[in-house]
Amino acid sequence: MVLLWTLLKKQEPIPTSFNGRPCEPLKLRKDPYILGIHGIRFGVRSIMTRDHRNIQAMLATQFNDFGLAHERRAHQAILGTRGIFTKDGPEWKESRALLRPSFDRASVADLSALETFVTRMIAKINASPGSDGYHEVDLQALLLELIMDASTDFLFGSPIGAQEGRVSAEGQMSFSESFDVSQDVVSIRFTLNDLYWLVNPKRFRIAITVVHKLVGHYVTRALQKHNSNSSADKPYTKDTSTSGKYIFLEALSQKTQNPQVLQDQILSVMMAGRDTTASTPHGPFTSSPATRKYSRSCSDLREMVYLRCFLHEELRMYPPVGINSRSALRTTTLPYGGGADGNAPIVVRKGEGAMYSVFVVHRREDV
Ligand code: HEM
Repeated sequence: MVLLWTLLKKQEPIPTSFNGRPCEPLKLRKDPYILGIHGIRFGVRSIMTRDHRNIQAMLATQFNDFGLAHERRAHQAILGTRGIFTKDGPEWKESRALLRPSFDRASVADLSALETFVTRMIAKINASPGSDGYHEVDLQALLLELIMDASTDFLFGSPIGAQEGRVSAEGQMSFSESFDVSQDVVSIRFTLNDLYWLVNPKRFRIAITVVHKLVGHYVTRALQKHNSNSSADKPYTKDTSTSGKYIFLEALSQKTQNPQVLQDQILSVMMAGRDTTASTPHGPFTSSPATRKYSRSCSDLREMVYLRCFLHEELRMYPPVGINSRSALRTTTLPYGGGADGNAPIVVRKGEGAMYSVFVVHRREDV
């Protein structure tokens, strides 16, 4: 069925020139920078590039030609349609302007909030079986719990208790499990492109209910606080907050009181920040004793130059978002990949995908 869909899908013909310049369709080629891949995602021709100039075109110089909202339809069941992760163009700009002030620099950098969760994780590691000072643990699971609690504490004002293994009121799936299930299913839906709606299992629908119910609860609480707070018209800070701590959702509810916008934005931020952060700090725990020694205390992280360099290098070698993508909002070109030497533009038709590998670019010695 999927194959039939791909074959029957109408596509406009590939032009041979664009804005007066000759350009080429993408061919499958042994090119150092462009890998032409047809049908990597069902029904849509997608190109894959590792040319930094093409990436720059997509993300900067030809920003308006490429978008991601169409790519992220598969996410909408969980993220909604009004958050930054599912928007393009003016609506994306609006989202950015809405969210940016809430990423208050001082509060984001407030590590004291994180310390509680890190201490709890280290206690779990120390309590695990092992010998000679070594402990055998599933570090990825511990880091996911840590980030889930730390991020919900920052976003909602209360950790959801992932480190304590708290289950949801429904007794079915915890919030963390539900979030994981929704991410797993979304990644399958994503590869199906136009046919994403074919994958909608029961556990996905339950997971969405659990996630939306909990986030909805915190949105209602933030709005109630906003409405009853006499200092609601003053800029939101740790000091004007009724709880004495900076809560992202409360800061955001000063800018908009639309519950759906709040829910969708908070879920977008949560999705953006969780797996990326949880998959980054593996190195210091698993690498050389020198790195482990430097990663013991939370209080003077900023001074730890070696650790900071280590993390930068880790992000270069193992970027959490190793492959990313856009789709063409109109028929356009990418600057490189065509012609005999790969220096002519290539055509990307409206709706076609353009994927880029950050992982590969980060390993190119010539960039
Ligand atoms: C090591 C950790 C992180 C990495 C590697 C990372 C990576 C990225 C990347 C590659 C994008 C661009 C996605 C795209 O345009 O297709 C992005 C966007 C974004 N990230 Fe992160 N991220 C990290 C942590 C976080 C955290 C902790 C938060 C929030 C608490 C966050 C919030 C966001 C938001 C809101 C966007 C959308 C920005 C926009 O569209 O303008 N990220 N991130």
